[in-house]
Amino acid sequence: MAVSPFALHVNASANRHSVSPTFDHLTKSISPALKPIWKELQQQLPLKKIDVSNAVKKASGMVLDVLVDGLYRFVDQPYPPSQKNFAPVQEIGEAVEVACLEGELPADFPEGVFVRNGPNPQFGCLQTTVSPLGITNETWVEGEGMLHALLFKKTGDSDWSISYKNRYVESETFKLEKQRNKPAFIPAIEGDPLAISAALSLNQIRLDTGNKFLCNTSVFEHSGKLYAISENYLPHEVDSQTLETFGVWDFNGDWGRPCTSHPKKAPGSGELVIMGIDVKKPFLVVGVVSADGKELLHKVDVQLRKCVLSHEIAVSQRYNIIVDHPLSLDVSRLAKGGQLLKYDKEGMTRFGVMPRYGDANSVRWFEVETCCTLHILNTFEDGDEVVVRGCRAMTSILPGPDWGENKFDWYSRGFKLPPKKRENGNEEEGFLFHCVYEWRLNMETGEVQERNLSGTHTSMDFPFSNGNFIGLKNKFGFTQVVDSAASSSCGLAKYGGVAKLYFDEPQV
Ligand SMILES: [Fe+2]
Repeated sequence: MAVSPFALHVNASANRHSVSPTFDHLTKSISPALKPIWKELQQQLPLKKIDVSNAVKKASGMVLDVLVDGLYRFVDQPYPPSQKNFAPVQEIGEAVEVACLEGELPADFPEGVFVRNGPNPQFGCLQTTVSPLGITNETWVEGEGMLHALLFKKTGDSDWSISYKNRYVESETFKLEKQRNKPAFIPAIEGDPLAISAALSLNQIRLDTGNKFLCNTSVFEHSGKLYAISENYLPHEVDSQTLETFGVWDFNGDWGRPCTSHPKKAPGSGELVIMGIDVKKPFLVVGVVSADGKELLHKVDVQLRKCVLSHEIAVSQRYNIIVDHPLSLDVSRLAKGGQLLKYDKEGMTRFGVMPRYGDANSVRWFEVETCCTLHILNTFEDGDEVVVRGCRAMTSILPGPDWGENKFDWYSRGFKLPPKKRENGNEEEGFLFHCVYEWRLNMETGEVQERNLSGTHTSMDFPFSNGNFIGLKNKFGFTQVVDSAASSSCGLAKYGGVAKLYFDEPQV
């Protein structure tokens, strides 16, 4: 199946170390014995399907496994004290009862299950590889998807049984590494460009894909089924009670590419609007899946000219809304000593509004002030306007600092508030500040009105709203909060790191 080799969601930054990132230097540093292999690997870039028989492929895979074992040293990454909450946990097996020590469940609380997903490295630590080609690192969100479920069952009028269970999403790449009982995939997102190139090729040749199918970003429900997903691959259906992985869902059609971690249920029809980006053409495709999940009803290439790391698709009653911003992903940059992901602060940000079953020609594009918006909170139609509310930053948290800068220092400065600039105009602090922002896109006049809804003292991202009212004007929205000082032009209350936003003129 033709899918992206990249874990697109996860590039946090290049780790800083003493190895020169320049292509020439690294090429010269390869030992003569490796040069023929490297020449062959270079010929495979950008990645393409290798047309060899299965037998030859298997044999070459075994030879390359030996090569990788000899040349690559996998090193456990330590968790600094400040990162301990990212440390992985183990599967607990059978569900355990949870005691309610304080408070009680409301009488009208519904029975059901709450499921969350998150990265959880299979072998206890994120991995770094050291080889003659350089260093590559797994980033902090590259662990395998681990589902956590809280199950609520009524045992009497006001009595409840609450239990907890966790379980890995068992993708094919998860099972492959589990069977080998050691990491097999060379990290291929962050690190020395030459080493990343080699990692992508070696992974592709040996393991049939450039990167693992992480399945660690979100869960969503469609037609009564639950799916775990990350945007570098397809959804995996899982059992909501046992968390068992049933298998990959390709939307029963010719999708054959990665899928956004945040598909949207269209208001009214219940159809599922999906989107998939890839490093090769077509760079961004939008699809519509039937409400019963049995049919891929629509699939259209939006005809973008490059691969943009567009993370989320949004919907309104009649439209699909696409985010195009200056965060791009390009394999060819590796050969020039650059990184896969690049954020161009001078680049263009725009929203594409496309009728539900539209095509590339029917997309109405609205250019807005340059920014980075990965997550959308709420979109709806209001008269002639399509309104987009999302979390907006002036700089992307991805791909992280420029080469040579300490990434922990960069993140630390980036989240400091209030935003501060140096004399030369470059951001010194607070450049990762995210606010809840509104764009009003006028379909009649083509004009755009923009405004900050959450002020400049509370940084917010990872928004969510009531799943029953996607694509309609919402009264409430929720986000995670980085800073606790509240200041906003919409009502805001913070509950232990979560902000609840009250919007004007609520309809639902
Ligand atoms: Fe996300």
